[in-house]
Amino acid sequence: MTGEGAGSTGEVSLATAYRTHTCGELRASDVGRAVALSGWVNRRRDMGQLIFIDLRDRHGLTQVVIDAAESPEAHDMATAVRNEFVLRVEGVVAKRLAGTENAKLATGDIEVRAKSVTVLSSAKTPPFPINETDNADETLRLKYRYLDLRREQINHRLVLRSKLLKALSEVHHANGFVEVETPILIKSTPEGARDFIVPSRLQPGNIYALPQSPQQLKQLLMVAGFDRYYQIAHCMRDEDMRADRGPEFTQLDIEMSFVSQEDVMSFVERMIIEVSRQVVPDRPIRAVPFPRFAYREAIDRYGSDKPDIRFGMELHDLGEVVAGSDFGVFNSVLADGGRVVGMAAPGLGGASRSEIADLTEIAKRAGAKGLVHLSVGDEGITSPVLKFIGESRAQQIAETVGAGPGDLVLIVADADIHAQEALGDVRVELGHRLNLIEDPNELSYLWVYSFPMYKWDADNNRWDATHNPFSGVNPEDESLLVTTSGDPAKPSPGDPAGQARALQHDIVLNGWELGGGSIRIHRHDLLARSFALQGHGQEAAQAKFGAVLDAFEYGAPPHGGIALGIDRWIALLTNQENIREVQAFPKTGSGTDLMLGAPSPVEIPQLTELGLALAPPRTKSEPKPAS
Ligand code: AMO
Ligand code: AMP
Repeated sequence: MTGEGAGSTGEVSLATAYRTHTCGELRASDVGRAVALSGWVNRRRDMGQLIFIDLRDRHGLTQVVIDAAESPEAHDMATAVRNEFVLRVEGVVAKRLAGTENAKLATGDIEVRAKSVTVLSSAKTPPFPINETDNADETLRLKYRYLDLRREQINHRLVLRSKLLKALSEVHHANGFVEVETPILIKSTPEGARDFIVPSRLQPGNIYALPQSPQQLKQLLMVAGFDRYYQIAHCMRDEDMRADRGPEFTQLDIEMSFVSQEDVMSFVERMIIEVSRQVVPDRPIRAVPFPRFAYREAIDRYGSDKPDIRFGMELHDLGEVVAGSDFGVFNSVLADGGRVVGMAAPGLGGASRSEIADLTEIAKRAGAKGLVHLSVGDEGITSPVLKFIGESRAQQIAETVGAGPGDLVLIVADADIHAQEALGDVRVELGHRLNLIEDPNELSYLWVYSFPMYKWDADNNRWDATHNPFSGVNPEDESLLVTTSGDPAKPSPGDPAGQARALQHDIVLNGWELGGGSIRIHRHDLLARSFALQGHGQEAAQAKFGAVLDAFEYGAPPHGGIALGIDRWIALLTNQENIREVQAFPKTGSGTDLMLGAPSPVEIPQLTELGLALAPPRTKSEPKPAS
């Protein structure tokens, strides 16, 4: 075999009835050999007596020469072929004429002089060129995905994905994990998104949910004594699409028994290092052991719970410096217990009005009410708010954030966390625009832990789990899982529960959340208490999570785990900005499979059989039913 590229199969021969070699395999050492190749016409050049065909399969390209003088029948055949025809060529490997070698091709020293050409399939002109790398219109690429997938780059990404899955399988088996498949038709496991649902024919009116993740099932496998479970799990969430999020995605799902949080994190870290080194040996890992940030530190220093630490530009608290100024915005935010945070944007001191407006827009999209800026010049500081904060405070601000002449100071004032996150979004955007990432080839893995257990849900008057309803509480904070009212069914925003820290751990790669997990609550009583705070009284909890609650009464081992997004991982490993680029058959932003034409209407009898009838189509002016 060629032994090159992501398509290498090592020593295994791929010879079949149709070919002796693949199109990426022949070398100068094969000169004189009689061979058969099968593949697609990548390009055909007709020079009259000589026709050159670059024959392609996923392993590479081989130049075939058809000489009318040597093989008139083959030449006749080759005259009629077009790009993307599927051919079988028999011939003899020859050295290319001196000076016509192609150093860019692994097979570039040789060509195959054809004795026969057989057309295995003809092809229409494809809707976009397969032999060019520039991106065709995405709608066309998705409609004709099988043609898109013939293209080298995307094909390599999927081959790399396959390599990752193989490495994951090996490392988990080597570490005592059992691979267990879990069903696709289940009862809803809430992961914070809407369920896709499947009506039951045998029980009209009843409905399955497709798994948002196998969360409850993997916990039940721990109760069943499996000790260590993993699965490459397909997950479905009916949520709006973004670059790093789709309605269908794949998780590496892990659960382990008799483990501490440290046990889980250290296994996962070793696993990630081993797999990364195997699958992308040319991409150095920025720091080992992976840096760890408590949630609070990540938010305060980077304005994100998935910080990109490949560049500096850290946030600084300006509360003390700006206290007592005449700027009303800062004063009212501070009076409400909020935060004023700032950072230095290096070299942006001369930013134009429209550049500032653009940055303000980013902050506003992230929920900020505005963005204060100060330009630090050689002569002093200029700012629209200088008259309110005064020269000396402005100097102190610049000093606090580390801004020197030529830099721009950006400040957001808002509620705690809100302020940091808004400025954090501006930070990430500027980090990319200003090319601050030192080495884009590096893989910057890090952990974020010690998240708050709950956040207050003012609409429903309850504490929502920040991550997973089963997440465990830091043992030091167990006594905080109470309400001020004393009645777990009557939570309020000032409850001690708001201060409790979860045993939650997220793994972050290059500023994307790659995975998340936790040590779970395995005690029935504590879980019931946590559920009560989350607004699930005994009956509601039983209806939603009955299987797990019941199981926990039959001996549940302490357990915990994590799930990593495979699509995000491969996208980051192959420098793609959208996970669609690493999925074989992705859906569009509106959830359509353009190739298969899904979703599509079904026949009325099929609905009737399910006990369903369609409501009349909603018109635009009608309000959506409450979800
Ligand atoms: P969570 O919901 O954080 O945790 O998901 C884990 C990881 O799955 C990936 N992911 C997605 N990828 C693409 N499209 C989506 N819509 C999408 N949603 C999630 C992310 C994310 O970090 N059961 C828990 C895990 C656990 O606690 O063990 C869970 O699913 O990379
Ligand atoms: P205004 O008082 O709304 O005219 O705002 C004056 C300046 O303060 C403008 O540059 C706003 O973008 C900025 N600004 C307003 N609210 C905030 C805020 N919460 N945080 C940071 N800057 C703000």
